[in-house]
This record gives sequence, structure tokens and C-alpha cells, in this order.
Amino acid sequence: MKQSIPTIVVSEQQSTCELLKLYLQEFENFNFLASTSDFSKVCNAIKELEKSLVIIDISLYQEQGLNFVSKITSEFKNCRVIVLSDKPQVDLVIRAMRIGASDFISLPLIKDEFFDVLTKHYLDMTGAKPKKSKCRVVTVYSNKGGVGKTSIAANLALELAKITKENVALIDLNFQLGDITTFFDLKPSFNISYMLQNLDKINEDFLLSTLEKYKDTSLYILADPPYFKQADNVSSKDITKLFSILRDTFSYVVVDTFGGFDSKAINALENSDLILFVTIVNLPALRNCQRCMELFDKIGLEDEKIQILINRYMENDEISADDVEEVLGKNIYWKIPNNYFTMMSAINKGVPVSMINPDSNLALSFKNLALMISDSMYRQNFTKKQGRV
Ligand SMILES: Nc1ncnc2c1ncn2[C@@H]1O[C@H](COP(=O)(O)OP(=O)(O)O)[C@@H](O)[C@H]1O
Ligand SMILES: [Mg+2]
Repeated sequence: MKQSIPTIVVSEQQSTCELLKLYLQEFENFNFLASTSDFSKVCNAIKELEKSLVIIDISLYQEQGLNFVSKITSEFKNCRVIVLSDKPQVDLVIRAMRIGASDFISLPLIKDEFFDVLTKHYLDMTGAKPKKSKCRVVTVYSNKGGVGKTSIAANLALELAKITKENVALIDLNFQLGDITTFFDLKPSFNISYMLQNLDKINEDFLLSTLEKYKDTSLYILADPPYFKQADNVSSKDITKLFSILRDTFSYVVVDTFGGFDSKAINALENSDLILFVTIVNLPALRNCQRCMELFDKIGLEDEKIQILINRYMENDEISADDVEEVLGKNIYWKIPNNYFTMMSAINKGVPVSMINPDSNLALSFKNLALMISDSMYRQNFTKKQGRV
């Protein structure tokens, strides 16, 4: 039999109480017990309950509300608290989550969003949470700038989110001069520097309720606003911890890197399941690629996770794909066609290429690359065949 979890609504607003009651009745798995604005009544009620949910609206009494949340979450371990407010500033969300709230929803309530949150907590509280698929960290790397890393990371991450509908994080490891934000025309309210400085406080619930999704997809972008002060002294340990938190929260993490080969980059590479090593087809680039492969070998990166991705590929290039494979002694994993017009208009407009022209060879190439990465069977069996443009 389905469990039903007793739920108490706390709000000064009669209309909010009424609406929550209606939604809870419709949702069914949470049993609406009472609505009140009296904190002591809530405590008395949850004392008697084995498991409970409290939904508290702190719009009018923010400080008292937060104190109360802190009290319940510390005294009643089996009670979950969802905080609502009509002033959902990031600082407030962070405070609420730090004192133990399980979620934060902004008012006015959007039914679908509310039901998503209820579903997540119901599964969590009843132990019916489906096993999360294993996270894959995909790093888009080259020790050279200008080969298309950011263009690839951004479009690939979005396609992965669209295809799998799972949570995908796109992170920009170029803390100071990252340009992911420009590619998506974004001003993120949350940034990696903050995460790195608060690694001990950040967990899955915190991330999913604080991060902004890109439009209506399941892509979360973790970047610093341009020119944000660089996170000081980022240690390898911090980067590893950051990846471990991201792995717990997301199904895919796509990492955009800068051209460097410093400890941050090496750490990201070591923490990756798949490294898309981007190169273009010309002699200096291929020589550079060779040298980089040697370096990868020296630092002990497993060869199987490093894959060659040719960007700006042209069918009639003087150097053929076979030549490249011969020089590098490795199969080409994927080729992205050269399409300057589509790429430039996407970058200039701050939108993904699929929005400029979903039928362009470029958009299709990103989509198929995401398909291949998202389906490991497919990936293992057909890697070589499907890489042809
Ligand atoms: N497949 C492509 N076809 C045409 N131009 C491309 C392609 N990929 C990238 N570019 C262009 O190359 C330039 C550098 O791309 P970017 O993603 O910023 O490289 P990186 O991150 O490696 O420095 C951009 O101006 C972009 O328009
Ligand atoms: Mg870049």
C-alpha cells in the first residue's frame, strides 16, 4: 500500500493555505493534516508523528520563520521542511538550506514545479528513490585556445540535457575569463567560486534548488560571471571535492577547459570518464596533439578515456581523416563539420546552434555526439562507424 505522509502547512496567508491544501489533495501522497500560523501547534503535532512534512511560508515573517525552520530541523529529524517565500533572493535560499530546509520554492506557486518537488521528497522519504544512473564526467580539452572547446562543451551539454532529460551540469573551469556565460547569454546568480569556497555546505538538495536551469531544459550552468574575482588558491583537493559533489547530483557533467595544462586542468582530466581531445586538422595542431598525448601518457591518464574529436572538419581537406588517425595512432571518435556561419551567428546571438538552425550539419553533429555519449552500448559498439560526418 502507498504510504501517505502527514503534512502541515504554515502560512499567514489564508489563500496560500487553501491553495496548498488543494494541491496536496490532488497529489495524494501527502496527507494534508492542518494549516496554521501558530508555530507551537506545529511542534506539538509533529512530535506525535513518525514522519512528516512541513511547508512553511516565510514571506511575512522571514526571521521568525527561519528560526522556526532551524528549530524543527534540529529537533525533529524525521520531519522535512519546504520553505516558501515571495522574495526568493539567492542569499535567503542559501540561508534556508543551510539551516536544514530540504527545499525552497518561490511564490506565487507554480503547480508543476510544486509537484516536481513533492515527487522528489516523496521518493526520498519513502525510500522509493530510483537508483541514480551513474554520472559521466565529459571534459572537452585541448592545450590550445581557439579550437572550439567552449562551442563544443556548450552545445554538447545542452543536447545531452535535451536527449536524456536528466540533470546535466556544464562547468567552466576557466574561472576568471570563462565565456560560457556569453555563449548562453546568461548572468548566473550562482557561481563556481562560491561553490569552491563553500564545499562543505553544498549538497545535492542545495544545488538543485539553488542553481538556475537553462530555459526549460535540465541543463544547469555553473560559471562565474565575467571578471568575477578568481577563487583564490584552488587546490587539487577542492577540485576533486567539487567533482564528487557534482557526480552525486548530476547524470552528466560537461567541463569546458582553457588552453592550459596546470594542476586544475590535470585534476579535471583525472576526474573525467571521457576526455574529448579537440583538434583541428593542420600540421602544427596535429603535432601539438601528439605531444599532448605523450604528456597524458606520462601523467598516467588511461588511454581508453581519451578520444580524438576533430573540429571544423572539411571533407576535402588536404590532410584526410585517415592521415590523422595514422599520425596519432588512434581512431577519430567524432568529427564536427566546419560551419562558420552557423557557429558565429549562434555565438553572436548568445544561443545554441540548434536554435539558429536545428537542421544544420553542425546542430545535427552535436545532437548525434550527445546521443553517442548518452548511450554507452551504442558508444562501445559503433564508435568508429558513427564518427563519420
Ligand atoms: N565547427 C565550427 N565551425 C566553424 N567555426 C567554429 C567551429 N567551432 C568553433 N568555431 C569558431 O572558433 C572560434 C573559437 O571557438 P571557441 O569555442 O571559443 O574555442 P576555444 O574555447 O577552444 O578557445 C569561435 O569564433 C567559433 O566561432
Ligand atoms: Mg573557450
